[in-house]
Amino acid sequence: MLKIEDLTVNVLDKKILDSFNMEIPDGEIHAVMGPNGVGKSTICRSILKDPNYSIKNGSIIYNGVDLRDSTTTDIARMGIMMISQSPIAIEGVTNGEMLRIALSEKNNEHIDIFSFQREVKEICEKLNIPESFIHRSINDGMSGGERKKNELLHVWMLKPSFLILDEIDSGLDVDALKEVTKSLKEYHKETNCSMLIITHNPKLLKDLNPDKVHILKNKKIAKTGSIELISEIEDLGFKNYS
Ligand SMILES: Nc1ncnc2c1ncn2[C@@H]1O[C@H](COP(=O)(O)OP(=O)(O)OP(=O)(O)O)[C@@H](O)[C@H]1O
Ligand SMILES: [Mg+2]
Repeated sequence: MLKIEDLTVNVLDKKILDSFNMEIPDGEIHAVMGPNGVGKSTICRSILKDPNYSIKNGSIIYNGVDLRDSTTTDIARMGIMMISQSPIAIEGVTNGEMLRIALSEKNNEHIDIFSFQREVKEICEKLNIPESFIHRSINDGMSGGERKKNELLHVWMLKPSFLILDEIDSGLDVDALKEVTKSLKEYHKETNCSMLIITHNPKLLKDLNPDKVHILKNKKIAKTGSIELISEIEDLGFKNYS
């Protein structure tokens, strides 16, 4: 369970979130929608302790641990993973190298190269990405859509228990979006991981069938509802919420 209570976050002395509250029980999918620049990515980055986002008050508790006392590395080890809105490239470190080291750290065991390669190849096939990605530097020289799929390869290999998706759909063409949606549904079914999804894409959200939909406005949750809230937003926009 992730429980965010009374969270106030500043970026460069500007208050972005003010007494923000949200609870995501284990295995549930929650979506956050809201106008541009309202603070959706700020929620994600605060959970991961991005140093540019300064937590002024409140708590973020994951499975009983206060993340304010944890480093980003600790948080990753707890099984929280984010696919960010604009995944960065890391030149000189290949996907394969990073995944093998991360897996052996996570599982505290030596990773057998043959079973590792078999698994990575299977996932590449499932995600419709070339096997050559395994030997390429992380996201380096990849298009926007390829980066999102490459990050999804990391998800399948590292098996997070809490997945944060910040605009996973941006940069994906219609076919790739279908593949990614299918893969996320399959991942959720297989692992029962919790998900926090940020998107402006109503179709993606409806397909992922979230347990709850929250609207972020004026630095806090203005409304929480079920999947029906997505159609309401599609019809009326965000102007009626405050
Ligand atoms: N590192 C930063 N430096 C300066 N301002 C920032 C920084 N990060 C966020 N902000 C500001 O904080 C506010 C909230 O940004 P955030 O990225 O959380 O919005 P968002 O809801 O994710 O928007 P979008 O839908 O466009 O992705 C914006 O006004 C943004 O300009
Ligand atoms: Mg954003």
